[in-house]
Amino acid sequence: MNIKEIISKITIEEKFSLLSGRTNWDTAPVERLGIPSISLSDGPHGVRKDFNAANTVSEDGTIKPTWDTDLAGYNGLSYAYKATCFPTASAMSATWNTEMVEEVGKALGEECAALNVDIILGPGTNIKRTPLCGRNFEYFSEDPYLSGELSAAYINGVQSKGIGTSLKHFAGNNQEFDRGDISSEIDIRTLREIYLRPFEIAIKKAKPWTVMCAYNRLNGIYCAENKFLLNDMLKEEFGFEGLVVSDWWAVKDRAKSLKGSLDLEMPVNDKSMTVLKTAYKKGEISDEEINSALERVLKIVFKASEGKSSRGKEYDATKHHELARRAASEAITLLKNEDEVLPVTKEKVKKIAVIGEFARQPIIQGGGSACLTPMEVDSALDRIIELAGTDIEVDFAAAYSVWAAFPGVERLGKAMELAADADVAIVFVGESQKVEAEAFDRFNIKLSPDMENIILRVAAQNPNTVVVIEAGSAIDMSAWIHKVKGVVFSWFGGEAVGSAIADILFGLTNPSGKLAETFPLKLEDTPAFGTYPGNGFAVSYTEGIMVGYRYYDSYEKEVLFPFGHGLSYTNFEYSDLKITPDTPLIADEVKVSFKVKNIGKVQGKETVQIYVNDKACRTLRPNKELKAFTKIDLQPGEEKQVEFTLNREAFEYFNVNLNSWYIESGNFQIQIGSSSRDIRLKGKVFIKGEKDFS
Ligand code: GLC
Repeated sequence: MNIKEIISKITIEEKFSLLSGRTNWDTAPVERLGIPSISLSDGPHGVRKDFNAANTVSEDGTIKPTWDTDLAGYNGLSYAYKATCFPTASAMSATWNTEMVEEVGKALGEECAALNVDIILGPGTNIKRTPLCGRNFEYFSEDPYLSGELSAAYINGVQSKGIGTSLKHFAGNNQEFDRGDISSEIDIRTLREIYLRPFEIAIKKAKPWTVMCAYNRLNGIYCAENKFLLNDMLKEEFGFEGLVVSDWWAVKDRAKSLKGSLDLEMPVNDKSMTVLKTAYKKGEISDEEINSALERVLKIVFKASEGKSSRGKEYDATKHHELARRAASEAITLLKNEDEVLPVTKEKVKKIAVIGEFARQPIIQGGGSACLTPMEVDSALDRIIELAGTDIEVDFAAAYSVWAAFPGVERLGKAMELAADADVAIVFVGESQKVEAEAFDRFNIKLSPDMENIILRVAAQNPNTVVVIEAGSAIDMSAWIHKVKGVVFSWFGGEAVGSAIADILFGLTNPSGKLAETFPLKLEDTPAFGTYPGNGFAVSYTEGIMVGYRYYDSYEKEVLFPFGHGLSYTNFEYSDLKITPDTPLIADEVKVSFKVKNIGKVQGKETVQIYVNDKACRTLRPNKELKAFTKIDLQPGEEKQVEFTLNREAFEYFNVNLNSWYIESGNFQIQIGSSSRDIRLKGKVFIKGEKDFS
């Protein structure tokens, strides 16, 4: 029976039963019409399928979230099936490798199929407006283009396996504080150019089966009821053909959300049937509105059931663990390497001190609904000892416990002794799930005082101190960074991050990660400082389009580490920039080519970034915007030609007077960078736009 036929036969009660969840994690079937139930489970960086997939009912019989962080074990959960824990989104974006992200997406699709999950609740693509946001580890970037491209890669990967995705959280969910009620006040240009853009790119490039609406209000209206957002923007402007699902418990009134163009409420809500029936009787909701939502739900339900043959199939867990390790290796970002203190080699050192429990038990993910039970967790310490072999002595001191992270001074005694006696001291620090998680934000962006204390006391004993940071978002390092020679940022790098860290410390892997978010000198320098977290009713995005590097670079603010920054054990030379055609043209096809050469002694991967600058524009525009990137692999001495084709999307801005995308004629500067602040080549092209101000 096709959907139209079903709609002609289905009862109104059956219709309503399909517009809300049946349980926490699945939808209602209608057996007599051959409509199956489908299941949804969290991601985004691994499948968290709860043992009790229907509901987790607490002692008093109420249904409670199954991801309560207090239930979460240090690195996993006591109530969910094991699955591969891949690097989280902020780590995956540091790879700048869309192929890698797509490959991880495929593996996630296989694991969903094995666990009979039809839709994975990811990717999260909210823009990082403030480094305080507790879920930044779950999001890709401060840049909308990078976020959109990586989201599309993730979606294409997962959906190639017949499993759906849920692009989230739509939209303006850029803080956890008061997320259930706060109104994000965002002007239309900022919405279009920054906060909706990643969703628009991903929807047009990858067609996610579902989009998840956010908890918060946008310009005063709950996203779950926001017709401008869910219908005008998402379904009409972006051409989204899938279903809009609510964030869990985000629906305040099912009839209002139906009129707001929300198709599926999750999870189960016993009140909704009554609310819908009453509203229907009163004529407040129409058959057209009901059938419109129903059609989208049925389309995805049947789409999911097309893949039923793959459900329950086993996958190669060893292969997935190895993929998690490769992904982590490409994410880990070498931020500082003074005097080439890294890599550690037997020619350079005879003894190293490894300090910190996070070396033995790495932090692999943040807390909240994204947290899952990993298959296995690699220890960096074990791999370091393996790589050191008999050539290098390795001494270890835990210095702190994984939860406490508040070490007593006496526990530092041994750490300091080892540091004093070693050629290099490697200190592992980080932020546990108690610090970076869903439902709350960080209080500041510094490491805990005790973590900073450990670094300072070890550095006082050994000038060759390297710090490995296991965290999901930007850290203020001002208290200690000048006292250490090396800084390696491992992100929340997934279950194999320990091995990947060790491989990089010993040079088996040449680091190639780059920052997809600016690391500011201090919180007060951030563009959202002062408006975050809002006044208890609303948070005004007064910085507008000036988010992240757009702000720091346009207003020439000093930063700790810029967007796109990441060091390598080799060096790259850029040359021979050509931009064609050089004659004035409508921006359909601007070809940019240049060469990159590995001028060092070891193989390396380099992410080249293309920024566009519309300096002459009469409207305020950032002094650079990322418009293309790619990652290339070069052997020592190898040179490659890199080519890009830019089209009008690289040059336009959203003109609020015309309520449309728009190009103002003029010279545009094209900047080729190894980071947003390490511009290697510059050129310009004249673009004839819609209006001349000559
Ligand atoms: C949570 C999160 C969302 C998650 C969903 C199901 O509150 O906001 O990302 O997928 O509910 O756990």
